[in-house]
Amino acid sequence: MFEKNLLNGQTIVITGGGTGLGKSMSRRFGELGANIVISGRRKEKLEETADEFSKLGINVLTCPGDVRKLEDVELMTSQAIDKFGKIDGLLNNAAGNFISPTEMLSPNAFKVVIDIVLMGTWNCTSTIGKEMIKNKKGNVLSIVTTYAWTGSPYVVPSAAAKAGVLAMTRSLAVEWGKYNIRFNAIAPGPFPTKGAWSRLMPPGFEDFEDGMKNKIPMKRFGERHELENLASYLMSDGSAYINGEVVTIDGGEWLAGAAEFSEMDKIPDSLWKAMAARRKKK
Ligand code: HXC
Ligand code: NAP
Repeated sequence: MFEKNLLNGQTIVITGGGTGLGKSMSRRFGELGANIVISGRRKEKLEETADEFSKLGINVLTCPGDVRKLEDVELMTSQAIDKFGKIDGLLNNAAGNFISPTEMLSPNAFKVVIDIVLMGTWNCTSTIGKEMIKNKKGNVLSIVTTYAWTGSPYVVPSAAAKAGVLAMTRSLAVEWGKYNIRFNAIAPGPFPTKGAWSRLMPPGFEDFEDGMKNKIPMKRFGERHELENLASYLMSDGSAYINGEVVTIDGGEWLAGAAEFSEMDKIPDSLWKAMAARRKKK
């Protein structure tokens, strides 16, 4: 889909780049020529991923750390600049989430998700953003999800935090446009990953997966390469004038949930035909 050198010469920091969707997008950025900096709390996971990337000829730096800790984010930023000279792109992808009735959440359960998703995104955006301001160039992409604007039961801390990330994206798109830094977000619908599925599918409710698929007009989950392509486009100079946008990639899921007549899908063809015949007769 892209020229092989689409991201040549760019250095991109990806939080949570050692696993799941972050790993997939990092690999794709690297294959397209970018230097990759991946962070996450688990050093071994990052090193395992970096080994895989190195074998593909990708320049990769691992920075183990916690996005909740400003000192870890500052260290990651300085290590990335020491190794690659500058940072061109930031992908705020790290997240924490779990499914729970809201009345069962402890104060700390709410706080932990806000701290990872909203404060973590703020720590990375403000720290790396200052470097981008110095360079008068930058590109910040954040992974939210569609319930950032619809809200969702059972994931209230995540919905509140992702809504905050989206508001930060839109606000800074306007405020820092003058520094030639652009801010966008991607809102994926369900893409199966070990991290998400293990925390969002209650044990014994595997049927729930079919129910989720059925809610999606395209009747399938997202495929990793589809998200990788979108993220690569938004990270590239080919999308240089897109600023302050959130791009949904969910097979039409959230609109189907909102649209008045989505349930009409259940009406069999024979009934539509009978209705048409009756109309003609009249
Ligand atoms: C209720 C829970 C809980 C649960 C943890 N807690 N799990 N409460 N239900 N299932 C509570 C704990 O009891 C504790 O509160 C507090 O949360 C902190 O828990 P810790 O385990 O100490 O936190 P920590 O080790 O920092 O781990 C953070 C985590 C964990 C968020 C709880 O799941 C994690 O590390 N997640 C990272 C990866 C991840 O979540 N990936 C999925 C992203 S998917 P107390 O009061 O007891 O101290 C995603 C998809 C969105 O975002 C859209 C899908 C369509
Ligand atoms: P995942 O594999 O669990 O990814 C989360 C990543 O964040 C992990 O690599 C994790 O690494 C890292 N992380 C978590 N807490 C961190 C912290 N405090 N500091 C640094 N890194 C931390 O799940 P995923 O499905 O790929 O999710 C990736 C992103 O996509 C998230 O933003 C998620 O909200 C979003 N999303 C996913 C879906 C989906 O269906 N999968 C849908 C919509 C949006 P460590 O545990 O090693 O720290």
